[in-house]
Amino acid sequence: MPAIAASAPGKIILFGEHAVVYHRPAIAVPFTGVRARVAAMADPLGPPGRVKIDAPDIHLQTTLDQLPGDDPIAIVIRGVWETLGIESMPAVSLRISSNIPSSAGLGSSAAVAAALARATASFIGCPLTDEQVSQIAYRAEQRLHGNPSGIDNTVVVYARPVFFVRGKPIEFLRLSEPLHLVIADTGIQSSTADMVRALRERREAAPDRHEAWFDQIAAIVLRARALLEEGNSAALGPLMYANHALLQSLSVSCPELDRLVEAASKAGALGAKLSGGGGGGNIIALVQDGRQEQVAESLREAGAVWTKSTTVPADGAR
Ligand code: PMV
Repeated sequence: MPAIAASAPGKIILFGEHAVVYHRPAIAVPFTGVRARVAAMADPLGPPGRVKIDAPDIHLQTTLDQLPGDDPIAIVIRGVWETLGIESMPAVSLRISSNIPSSAGLGSSAAVAAALARATASFIGCPLTDEQVSQIAYRAEQRLHGNPSGIDNTVVVYARPVFFVRGKPIEFLRLSEPLHLVIADTGIQSSTADMVRALRERREAAPDRHEAWFDQIAAIVLRARALLEEGNSAALGPLMYANHALLQSLSVSCPELDRLVEAASKAGALGAKLSGGGGGGNIIALVQDGRQEQVAESLREAGAVWTKSTTVPADGAR
């Protein structure tokens, strides 16, 4: 039996991270230059029902039975079974790989969960809807992040630009112009769960100040949505710097992220900001077409350990 393969892209939050946890809107796009992939192969020699898991990137070789019930991989596989109303599956070997940097704000855990749910369900012969995959990936995100807004699983599953408000129906965004982005990694791994938890504590200590910052971020997101839809990407740049300044106020940036944002600005980027949970991980810079490599070089000189250019296509060009 040939292997069944499934994949999901990374994601980039363009505007609104952290405030989105508090029901403000956010905008995210798929990052198709990196992907999580899962191959499911029948294991005819394995005992009935054995699910072998091989994830060489994280040096994991195990079986489902040996994983704790709250392991995100187990949550996804059992989440698929529960959705399909079954309690086991034919012996299978699941190989998980990903070139999405982990703990870097690029949606690696959500993409692995989405690809795993899809490969498992297709192997069983009952492919799931995107909504079902997204719900299963959300459960794995809850285990990892505690209180995720749901933006990561949504954007990696649907692989389309989204305007996301927690608890509201998903709205897809129609980009009128392509977005040329450079992503630059500080090399600092940071736990989104810890960043979200620490912000919650600061907000509890000073609710009014934090709610005001969240409202200012929400206003930026609404303005950015209009600019993306009308195709005025040059005017987005200042909004990215303004969003970054508010993330600094929320204390989720760090000197290394600030240095990269400043380097992007000096190199002529239209805008730049941290993207994701912060405290490390990545910045994104919006640049004019043809300027990606030049800005990427300046970012590497300013300490980025990894850069990648990506273009989010305009609607219709996809
Ligand atoms: O760090 P990431 O890629 O998991 O991004 C998280 C985005 C936050 O807004 C900080 C958290 C969330 O659940 O939305």
